[in-house]
Amino acid sequence: MKLCIIGSGYVGLVTGACFAEVGHHIICVDNDQHKVDMLLAGRVPIYEPQLEELVRRNVAAGRLFFSSSVKLGVDASEVIFLTVPTPIQTDGNVDLSYIERVACEIAVALKAYRVIVDKSTVPVKTGEKVTEIIHRYSAIGSPFDIVSNPEFLREGRAIKDLLHPDRIVIGSSSHRAIALMKKIYKPFPAPLLVTDVNSAEIIKHAANSFLALKISYINMVARICEANKADVEKVADGIGLDKRIGRGFLDAGIGYGGSCFPKDVAAFITICQQQLGKPFELLKEVQRINDTQLEYFVSKIRGALQILEGKKIAVWGLTFKPDTDDIRNSVAVDLINLLISEGAIVQVYDPKGMEKSKRLGVVPAARFAPSPLDAAQGVEALVIATEWKEFASVKLGELKARMQAWFIFDGRNLLNPSEVRQSGFSYYSVGRF
Ligand code: UDX
Repeated sequence: MKLCIIGSGYVGLVTGACFAEVGHHIICVDNDQHKVDMLLAGRVPIYEPQLEELVRRNVAAGRLFFSSSVKLGVDASEVIFLTVPTPIQTDGNVDLSYIERVACEIAVALKAYRVIVDKSTVPVKTGEKVTEIIHRYSAIGSPFDIVSNPEFLREGRAIKDLLHPDRIVIGSSSHRAIALMKKIYKPFPAPLLVTDVNSAEIIKHAANSFLALKISYINMVARICEANKADVEKVADGIGLDKRIGRGFLDAGIGYGGSCFPKDVAAFITICQQQLGKPFELLKEVQRINDTQLEYFVSKIRGALQILEGKKIAVWGLTFKPDTDDIRNSVAVDLINLLISEGAIVQVYDPKGMEKSKRLGVVPAARFAPSPLDAAQGVEALVIATEWKEFASVKLGELKARMQAWFIFDGRNLLNPSEVRQSGFSYYSVGRF
């Protein structure tokens, strides 16, 4: 099928590449000409495992094309997906200006029946707004249908998630549009849930908020474990084996970050406040726990090292999670800046996040090291902020030889406590003894 994807960020690019991989013909549109040129030259502006290879292969096969023209995409495609940013504003409302601008451009370009699919995370009833905009700006009144088709991919495993999703949600009231969507998703082996547009929009906010809730829940349980010399990992295993609960997203740590959870929880709280006249208190508590989790962890570092002023500390990790170069809302970045604000001298290493961090100046006073061991050179403590596999394979003997004092603060419960202690380190993690 001929499809157009407007917005070549994480979701747009991965969706375009995966749709092309299963045989569809895709035009990915982006208003950033520099990005379009880069992609046409076979270079991918983000790091996502397997993505570059997938893009190259499908461009070479003639199934994937990039352009900055919405008109070109709308003319050539039966179905148009919107994957543009929907950032949060300071008042908690979602900024829908990108969606609105693209809806206007689509309306002007519409000449025949098209299905317009929203894949960006949006507040409920955005589908209605897009419908209104298209009616308003479409000069010839071309027929169209609106679909909400939320995306659930995780950065770092986006291709796997997209090619093998847990479920596909299609929200629409049009049989014609639903039939086309089913055709697009035929090659994907997953249960397909058809709903109305509003329900599909709510599914995305409710799913992400629930996952964030699981993380804050286990982080609070971790604090209770710590107070009682219990092991949060065992507790998570014990409750996770209950199929009604599940083990996923019960890993305690220094809190959730990234471009989705903080934004989506805040948006869902605002939607509740505006529509029901009161905030979603449960989610406010989820936010509160997450906001205090870093401070809770740093207080252990202060407690053990006594004074941070002038101390050399290594931090492993900059990205908000492993297997990505994304540093947006990264707790690791906050952690580094917090340590520096208290006078520590921080040497940092991250496998994929350093270039972006330097370019954007997110940790301006940190020193960047070329390897995990170089970051640990001469330090009194090591802090693990992101659970990259590479960090778990560093030889503890070599690490010890590089450090000046032997404290490890593991904010992601990456290492094995008894192994680390047997190697002569003082070891602190989250909710484990
Ligand atoms: C999330 C959703 O998982 C995905 O379905 C949606 O499409 C986009 O938002 P993503 O932001 O890529 O995906 O990352 P995710 O893997 O969900 O992790 C989010 C944050 O939670 C990270 O900071 C991660 O470190 C943290 N996390 C995750 C935990 O602290 N504990 C866990 O058990 C799981």
